[in-house]
Amino acid sequence: MSVDILVGTLWGDEGKGKLIDVLTRDVDMVVRFQGGNNAGHTVEIGDEKYVLHLVPSGIFRPGVKCVIGNGLVVDPIGLMEEMTALKERGIDISTIELSDKAHLIFAYHKACDKMKELAAGKAKIGTTGRGIGPAYEDKAGRCGIRGGALRDLALLEKLFRTQCEKYNTRFAAAGVDTLDVDAEWAKVKEAAVYLAPYVTDTVLSVNKAAKAGKNVLFEGAQGALLDIDHGTYPFVTSSNTISGGACTGSGIAPRYVDTVWGVMKAYTTRVGEGPFPTELFDADGEELRKIGREFGATTGRPRRCGWFDAVISAYSCMINGVNKLAITKLDVLDTLETVCICTAYELDGKVITEMPTSAADLARVKPVYEKHPGWCCSTAEARTFAELPENAQKYLNRIAELVDAEVAIVSVGPRRDQTFLV
Ligand code: GDP
Ligand code: IMO
Ligand code: MG
Repeated sequence: MSVDILVGTLWGDEGKGKLIDVLTRDVDMVVRFQGGNNAGHTVEIGDEKYVLHLVPSGIFRPGVKCVIGNGLVVDPIGLMEEMTALKERGIDISTIELSDKAHLIFAYHKACDKMKELAAGKAKIGTTGRGIGPAYEDKAGRCGIRGGALRDLALLEKLFRTQCEKYNTRFAAAGVDTLDVDAEWAKVKEAAVYLAPYVTDTVLSVNKAAKAGKNVLFEGAQGALLDIDHGTYPFVTSSNTISGGACTGSGIAPRYVDTVWGVMKAYTTRVGEGPFPTELFDADGEELRKIGREFGATTGRPRRCGWFDAVISAYSCMINGVNKLAITKLDVLDTLETVCICTAYELDGKVITEMPTSAADLARVKPVYEKHPGWCCSTAEARTFAELPENAQKYLNRIAELVDAEVAIVSVGPRRDQTFLV
């Protein structure tokens, strides 16, 4: 029996979806615990490619329970569309459970998200526009609407109309288009009828599974550097993305947790605004984006690309308590003659190896690089660590040493089979 948590260690898009799919071969239950459909988790199986936003990435393994936990903010219309699309492609969605405590995202949250970003101008966060921040604001403000209301249409309608009117007053005052409440309610009602049979007390099902000795895997969304407390605030998302979030976001106690998997790209990417010390603006950055196909799985935006940053990665491993690393996209570095690792920063004439707390300071640091010779051959067919070129092995070993965690899985391509245990 094991209860494991898998999280992204950077700014998201590390390949969590692929790793969850690989690891669920031996798992009974996969649980999402935070975020919403700002996430885009890609799973490639044979010639089929799926991008999941709310449905856990265990959905492709028959019989695996897929839980959308209490810590999420869920767009009911988005979830209905995602589930319908999966069903149309022949995937069994009957294993999905939606928490009665998860908060719901409505059109007014999305409109508010866009309004705030527009008003912020150059200071914008670069959100996904999915209404994530405003929905978590309502949760903290104790005026959110929870999953349980999907089972009671009369209650849902009353709560929804009250909130809609409140937001419409705000929109009108700001000179922003107001929402057509009746039209929005019709869409919400359809989604509520569709989702109601999936709504349940997931805190109970997760705890029962853990107590019964089942293998449970928690699927993080985003990454540690987007965590509301520990990330590059204010350029973060609005939830606790780190491993600790799995407990509050699902109702499982910390004592059950065995392993924390940290998924880490062999280089670094970021979507949206905010500091990124090792960002590349040259041909190497363009090469990483092109070969790594670094375009957002949710918004299609080009991802910013840069060298591996051991300072932020070590920090991330520390706050997540990562004991097993899964390093992805090693193959993307195959053609580079030199690969760099940032081992420290220079800030105000001093060399530092700890990540500064303030985003403004992080934006001012100059990375200190260690240069490594590339391997200039394909790693895509390697299926053991020993089959990797020597320079690639040295690169991975150096990363493990710098972030103080063990490399347990290496991924050398998007497909299931392009993955091996170390
Ligand atoms: P997630 O949000 O962490 O699940 O990651 P995304 O799905 O947003 O982005 C990761 C992208 O990299 C997807 O297109 C994956 O298919 C792809 N991918 C995952 N692992 C590898 C790998 O080892 N090599 C390559 N070349 N692509 C990978
Ligand atoms: P996955 O799970 C990468 C980023 C946005 C923006 C910031 C806040 O696929 O790794 P939000 O819409 O959450 O309020 O946006 O967070 N962001 C992600 N970046 N991968 C993600 O998810 C992300 N989810 C949010 O680009 O900078
Ligand atoms: Mg993604």
